[in-house]
Amino acid sequence: MISLELLCQDVVELCREVGIFIKMEESKVHREDIETKSKNSLVSYVDKTAEQRLVANLAKFIPEAGFIAEEGTSDKVGDVYNWIIDPLDGTTNFLHGVPTYSVSVALKRNDEVVIGVVYEVNRDECFYAWEGSDAFLNGNKIETNSTSNLSDSLIATGFPYYDYTHLDGYFELLKNLAKNTRGIRRIGSAAVDLVYMACGRFDVFFEYSLHAWDVAAGAFIAQQAGAVIEDFKGEGNWLFGKEIVAINPQLRVEFSNLIKKHLN
Ligand code: IPD
Ligand code: CA
Ligand code: CA
Repeated sequence: MISLELLCQDVVELCREVGIFIKMEESKVHREDIETKSKNSLVSYVDKTAEQRLVANLAKFIPEAGFIAEEGTSDKVGDVYNWIIDPLDGTTNFLHGVPTYSVSVALKRNDEVVIGVVYEVNRDECFYAWEGSDAFLNGNKIETNSTSNLSDSLIATGFPYYDYTHLDGYFELLKNLAKNTRGIRRIGSAAVDLVYMACGRFDVFFEYSLHAWDVAAGAFIAQQAGAVIEDFKGEGNWLFGKEIVAINPQLRVEFSNLIKKHLN
């Protein structure tokens, strides 16, 4: 029987080690190392090596588990357990010398995420949770904010940069939020946005066209910290549905209505 708590601690250690590797490469990576996977989707040897290290070690933790990994290191499919990995969330930041990026690892058992770890490398902040647990930041319990007014809320999002399907509605919503909240942040790592939700730094996060590896770990941690996670319809299809809202329960009705108005 797997102890998710002990396994989570092992994953925390591994993410920290991989984070140190990424940080060491920050000053070594050059423009010519950058490859473009598709419009504005960048990658370098750092993402790929980090993912190889994660996969090699995670495979030892649960030999029968499969992987859903951004850089495609393994296409093994697990019957029950699958690791969902973003080795470097915030690649564009990393390659431009902007300090916010993270390592993100989740474990899915059947259809449910049961472990989430997000390590924000440059702040040395490791966020994690496992099934049934509280959420933690470097060993201390964290909780979402309980702000009940949008006017007191700090909003996080990711501006569209390749999928412009909802562009008009998206910017209409931003106009509304610019006038009616404390402000809007775009920090460039969805995993970090979600764990900042978890610890109450942000009150709302929303974005579309994200992949499972961007959100699995961070959304699970935010959920364990008290956030509601849903898709733009207010339903539960956020892991593979490519649209996500993370919100504290007090703001849910008000914000969900805005999302439905502008983004559906
Ligand atoms: C990206 C980041 C970013 C989000 C993008 C993601 P990557 O992940 O999470 O905040 O806006 O949509 O693709 O490419 O740096 O792993
Ligand atoms: Ca990502
Ligand atoms: Ca990535």
